[in-house]
Amino acid sequence: MTVTTADTAPQHSAIIAVDGPGGAGKGTVCKRLAEHLGWHLLDSGLLYRVLARAAIKHGVAADDAAALADLAAGLAVQFVSDSDSEGLSALLEVEDVTASLRNEETGRLASQVAALEAVRAALLRRQRAFSAAPGLVADGRDMGTVVFPAAPLKIYLTASVEERARRRHKQLLAQGQSDTLARLVEAIAARDHSDMSRAVAPLVPAADALSIDSTDMTIDQVCQQVLGEAVRRGIIED
Ligand code: DC
Repeated sequence: MTVTTADTAPQHSAIIAVDGPGGAGKGTVCKRLAEHLGWHLLDSGLLYRVLARAAIKHGVAADDAAALADLAAGLAVQFVSDSDSEGLSALLEVEDVTASLRNEETGRLASQVAALEAVRAALLRRQRAFSAAPGLVADGRDMGTVVFPAAPLKIYLTASVEERARRRHKQLLAQGQSDTLARLVEAIAARDHSDMSRAVAPLVPAADALSIDSTDMTIDQVCQQVLGEAVRRGIIED
């Protein structure tokens, strides 16, 4: 088990920035890539989700930009990576909040607080501090456009709304929960709209991003394509 704390690490140029809408497979792909390469992993969505939980915990309203920015600046969070589990675990003020991070309520609130400029500014340095040798795989919405604009490889990973809803449906069933496909399509489309239409750091592909549509691809195929491109660009060795 390794513990990653977001303190002041030196900037490093070996970065694979992966952006795209929710459910496109970024989380799994980034985790696999980071494990395969032995690189650090930044799940920036998790940071916004932890902030959403902190807002609930401290009774801060979703539109109180100043209070949320203060909360973001002082966020006492630790990410714990466990190779047995699907993703990172998160400790907020030493409380394990992992179980509530992936639910729809947290996702919606994360999307709302992420639209605030002061919040994004407060989390910028913290995200950049993840960049350290030997390299970083960064997962988010603005990794290639705002946080790591000099990343030598930027991926924009997408999939159709219907396919993303199907994947989410499967995930929920595996967790013993359920929702109708139609409702999931609606929720995913609403989240896309909120992330893509906000004024600050909207979800858009970086001009120099390689777009990958994962609708008909396996996770393995996506990883192979990203690794192939990293080799081709001389970022990693074959
Ligand atoms: O990737 P995710 O679903 O865990 O992200 C949760 C929300 O956080 C998402 O709706 C938008 C926001 N987010 C963001 O604005 N910028 C990022 N780099 C990552 C996530």
